This record gives sequence, C-alpha cells and structure tokens, in this order.
Amino acid sequence: MSTFEPVLSKYFAQPNAWTLAHYRSRGGYYGYETAKKAISSLEPKAIIEDVKKSNLRGRGGAGFPAGMKWSFLPENGKPRYLAVNADESEPGTFKDREIMAKDPHGLIEAIIITCWAIRSHHAYIFIRGEFVREAKRMQAAIDECYREGILGDDVLGLGKFKLDITVITGAGAYICGEETGLLSAAEGQRAYPKIKPPFPAVEGYFRQPTIINNVETIACVLHIVARGWEWFKKIGPESGPGPKLFCISGHVKKPGLYEAPLGTTLRQLIYDYAGGPIGEIKGIIPGGSSMPIMTVDQIDTPADFDSIRAAGSFLGSAGLIVFNKDTCIVNALLNLARFYHHESCGQCTPCREGLGWLEKLCHRLEFGHGKEGDVDLMNEVSVMIKGRTICFLADSLIMPVQSYIQKFREEFEYHIKHKRCMTGTKAGEFAQVDELVGAGR
Ligand SMILES: Cc1cc2nc3c(=O)[nH]c(=O)nc-3n(C[C@H](O)[C@H](O)[C@H](O)COP(=O)(O)O)c2cc1C
Repeated sequence: MSTFEPVLSKYFAQPNAWTLAHYRSRGGYYGYETAKKAISSLEPKAIIEDVKKSNLRGRGGAGFPAGMKWSFLPENGKPRYLAVNADESEPGTFKDREIMAKDPHGLIEAIIITCWAIRSHHAYIFIRGEFVREAKRMQAAIDECYREGILGDDVLGLGKFKLDITVITGAGAYICGEETGLLSAAEGQRAYPKIKPPFPAVEGYFRQPTIINNVETIACVLHIVARGWEWFKKIGPESGPGPKLFCISGHVKKPGLYEAPLGTTLRQLIYDYAGGPIGEIKGIIPGGSSMPIMTVDQIDTPADFDSIRAAGSFLGSAGLIVFNKDTCIVNALLNLARFYHHESCGQCTPCREGLGWLEKLCHRLEFGHGKEGDVDLMNEVSVMIKGRTICFLADSLIMPVQSYIQKFREEFEYHIKHKRCMTGTKAGEFAQVDELVGAGR
C-alpha cells in the first residue's frame, strides 16, 4: 500500500482540481508528455499498439482488452465515433463520477489521445441523468477547452486534427449502461439493447463504427501514453495490469473510493484501505452487486480480473461490498431482485417476467411464506432465463441468485422452515422497513 502512488485519483482532493487553470499548472494539455506528444509524434497505429502491449483491460465490467477492441474498427472510410460510458448504474460503484467531477480535464485529454488513435472526430460522453454535478463539470471543462482552442477544428493548435466532444445525459436507467442500450439512448430511442454481432466497433452509433469504453478505461490511456506501456504493465498482474479505482462499501469502517494496483488482495483492500470490517465478515461481493458473492475464506484472493474469475466471481466494476454476519442473505437478495427486475427494459420475456418471478420468490421467502422446494425453484427459474436474452442484464440477478443459494443455502431453507432469518430478525423485518421508506413496489 505504501509504495504505490495514486495515478488516476492523484489530484482528486486538491481544491479546484477540475479547472483548466489547475490542470495546466500540472502540465496538462501542453506538457510534452501527453496529448501533444501523442498527436505530434505518434502515429495513431503506434498508440493502438502501445495500448495493446499495456494489456489495458476494460474497467466497465467485462475486462475486455481495450487495444484489441480498437483494432476491430473496419477500414471502410465511414466516420468513427468514441462513446465514453459514464452511466455507472451498477450498485456499489462510484468511481467514474469521481473522475468526471474531480478530474474532467484528465478525461478530456485521454479522450483526445484515444480519438487520435482511433481516428475519430467526435466523442460522446454518455452520463447517467442523476449525475447533475458531474455533467455540469464535464460540460464546463469542455467549454473551457473550446474557448482555449484545445478542442474544435484544430486540436491544441497543432494543425493535425479536429475533434468535438458532446455530453449526452441519460434518463437514469441501468440498461443505458449496456453498450448497445447506450447507443439506442444516445440516438434518441428507448434504451433497448441490440443483438450482437454486429458489434458496435463495426456498427454502432447511427450504424457507424463506434468504440465504447468506460470512463476509467479511457482515463488510463493518458497515463499509458505519458509513462509508457512498460510502466503500466508492471503494476499488478501482467495479464490485466494497471492502477485501479476500488469502490468499497457495506460493513467496513471507512467506506470510500481507493486507488490501488490491480492484484491487491481483498483482505488488503478491506483492512488496509477501508479500515477493516464492522463485525465478522460473512460475504464479499468483489465487483458490483451483480457479481457472484465470495466467502470469507476467499479473502486472500488478489483483486484482479483473472484471480477473481478463478475464484468463481468477476472483478466487474470493482465495487466491493462487504456483508457482515448480521446480514440476512435472503433480504439482501430480495433487495437486488427488486432493483434488477425494476431495471429490466422489458424487451425479452425471460428477463421481464423471469426477474419478476425471482423477486416474488425472494419476497415470499423473506416474508415467511416460503414453501418447500422454493430454493430449487429459484435455481430452476434462473437457469431458464440464462442465455435467452439479448443482453446480460438478467445475468446481473442470476449470478447473485445462484451464488447466494450455492454459498448460503441453509439461510434460505431456514427462512422456509422457521419463517424467519438465522440472524434473528423477524420475517420481513428488513424488507418492511424498505417498503416503509418507499423502496418496495
Ligand atoms: C446491464 C448492463 C449494464 C452495464 N452498465 C455499465 C455501466 O454503467 N458502465 C460501463 O462502463 N459499462 C457498463 N456495462 C458494460 C458495457 O456494456 C460495456 O461492456 C463497457 O462500457 C465497455 O467498456 P470497457 O471495455 O472499457 O469496460 C453494462 C453492461 C450490462 C450488460
């Protein structure tokens, strides 16, 4: 922990770090290391090669290699777009909004480099509607750049290329974060996902080739160009390295956003960064609420793409949520079922109806009306949904359902048998509180 210097969040705590004046005072835009160097001395293809060699993997959830995605762009003469995914709706995730609010110019400079690399002249930042402060900060930073000739017809006055950046705000629906749902929303349609292939890199925004990357993924590009891919690759495991923003919440003493190298163990993140657990740990969700839960015996797993996967879960958006022993697993699952069912776009029947069935099953277990066989029924319903939908939204509930049952089955059975939870709360006690405050439907 002590030897690692934050890279992405280095300036977050400094006053006015979001202003152009502050960004310039630290060498931004015109410092030779970054966009200026990229545009004046590096060929676009060379940057793509460097990003490939860095092994930068997407920070939006799937961990797909960024350089490889960029190289899928067809050479067909069509206009190309960059869509920066700032929807960040996965519960337990709060990193992209911080980049936008606290270092918008760092993100803009990274977008400039990315667009030079992929030869795009228009980037869109798709921001979740509730992020009013972030959208305003981003727009203010973009406006400053146009005034100063950093963006527009002649980027940085180097006579090399033109770039516009447009902010689009979404309506605050989880599905807008799914890349093809995002594109539908950006085009002014309902945020319905589309079947892939064609992938957006081939046919995306208004059917033109489009690269979609998460905010944090793009933010990393700036540092890869500034310090070299060799530097980046040395931070954490070679197969998926780099600095990483971890969002730590739940039963920990100091919940918050922490930057650490990929490969830092879950134990280090919880104890050294987040001040340790409150009470005894029961479960850890490593990557945002849709990821399979891990148990306390897995706490020494390194938090990186491959290690978490080998341990049966996914790093996802690195939203780490800690549950202590007082957490009712059935209640926690009901909470998630309500959310994901509510967020289903309704396009695919298995997701629209099936997530509702799962919510109902969780509800009846939680409220003490569970029947013998309900746990198997939940499993069966989840199996029937999986793989039968256009996008992966349904999996966001299926993964918790299957993993919670696999790891904590006795809690579900206890609810059925005793009409209450093992943690000592009465049936429905937590859920009733949720409903009183308006979370229930
Ligand atoms: C239902 C659903 C919601 C998603 N929400 C987000 C999101 O809020 N932000 C994000 O970056 N990626 C989200 N993703 C992943 C995107 O579809 C896409 O993989 C990602 O933006 C690609 O960027 P990356 O390669 O840089 O990670 C979501 C995926 C699904 C299936």
